[in-house]
Amino acid sequence: MKRNPASAGLSGEIAVPGDKSISHRAVIFASLAEGTSRISGFLDAEDCLRTVEVFRAMGLQIDRDGRDLTVHGKGADGLKEPEVPLYFGNSGTTARLMSGVLAGLPLFTTAYGDESLSVRPMDRVVQPLRQMGAVIEGREQGKKLPLAFSGTGLSGITYEMPVKSAQVKSAILLAGLFAEGVTTVIEAAKTRNHTETMLPEFGVEVTNDFGAISVRGGQKMKASNVDIPGDISSAAFFIVAAAVVPGSDVTIRRVGVNETRNGIIQALKKMGADINVEITDRIGEEPVADVTVKSSELEGITVEGELIANLIDEVPVLALAATQAAGTTVIKDAGELKVKETDRIQAVCDNLSLMGADITPTEDGMIIKGGTALRGAEVSSKGDHRIGMMEAVASLIAEGETTIHRPEAINISYPDFFSDLEHLLYNR
Ligand code: S3P
Repeated sequence: MKRNPASAGLSGEIAVPGDKSISHRAVIFASLAEGTSRISGFLDAEDCLRTVEVFRAMGLQIDRDGRDLTVHGKGADGLKEPEVPLYFGNSGTTARLMSGVLAGLPLFTTAYGDESLSVRPMDRVVQPLRQMGAVIEGREQGKKLPLAFSGTGLSGITYEMPVKSAQVKSAILLAGLFAEGVTTVIEAAKTRNHTETMLPEFGVEVTNDFGAISVRGGQKMKASNVDIPGDISSAAFFIVAAAVVPGSDVTIRRVGVNETRNGIIQALKKMGADINVEITDRIGEEPVADVTVKSSELEGITVEGELIANLIDEVPVLALAATQAAGTTVIKDAGELKVKETDRIQAVCDNLSLMGADITPTEDGMIIKGGTALRGAEVSSKGDHRIGMMEAVASLIAEGETTIHRPEAINISYPDFFSDLEHLLYNR
């Protein structure tokens, strides 16, 4: 049997790539603005590059030098009707946010996605956009991609969101910029707030009245420079790895720890993880920190309610941590996981069960009885980046060899994941 390379623990420092949510928004806002915007620390991974390609297809010049982008914005009026269908790939954020933009532009556009995105719900944005007057056609009456947008005049609405989704909130606010009057989105539980905190940097006035977020239509956007912090959703894999692999001591530099995104740290601390967060900087409204994690004795907890939106993308790796905690962890109120890149409730439970975990799916989450030793197995990312990376972390504590099928899924958000992991394992 091969010795697990992680038996000596993970150690050293790392900086994870730029935040995915902020990267998408930076490109979209800069592309709608007038003037030249510079974006540094951009996430040069498949999902965010889709957003760049969408604007290039509408005639915009965007120069990329690795993780530095220069967007030569001409304002929304400068965007041209694309001659080909727009391709959103695997990217839910591109699909939902761009739907808000395309609904308001005076152009005819069509858009489609890959196999996974084509079965994900689009009615959550199409329905409120139609309330604003948008003309959108699509498969299953617009519930799914492909969609066609005949840009037309929109009117502002007040929309109480039935789903906890920052993508829906952002799509409506973006459409609101093209609408007559004021558009207000009311969210019952706080979701990631990058749209409303970043729009003012591009000259847009946004008000937030206890969760009722409003924009006035017709505001001209002006260019801005954006520096993007490291993605806490990518850092989460190393945070959990360091917590569960004995003998580990890892520092992740320049991680964005926005209060609407740091639920994974809150949950792991509640489980007893040895995590130190040292705020080192503030980029715009985004606090940035060095996060140091040491191997920890974990205890099971219940994760539910408002915290869920704050760690929704981290549930797969949190579930892995729970397999190593004493006692039971219950994750509930997380039905949204079923409509991510895969059904993540099923994908997590299937894969961790194959590795020997005691984990049971429920309607809106999962129940994990901790303290089980994992064993190597043949698993698959099922084409989902976060499932693939969770499996790689699981393999570090598994006895025997693990084979991960479809590992290339990690390219969606973190192309250098395996080499960064090797760096922490072998300090190279
Ligand atoms: C995102 C919002 C979340 C998250 C996704 C990115 C965003 O999706 O899961 O990875 O950038 O707005 P929902 O809006 O569907 O919750």
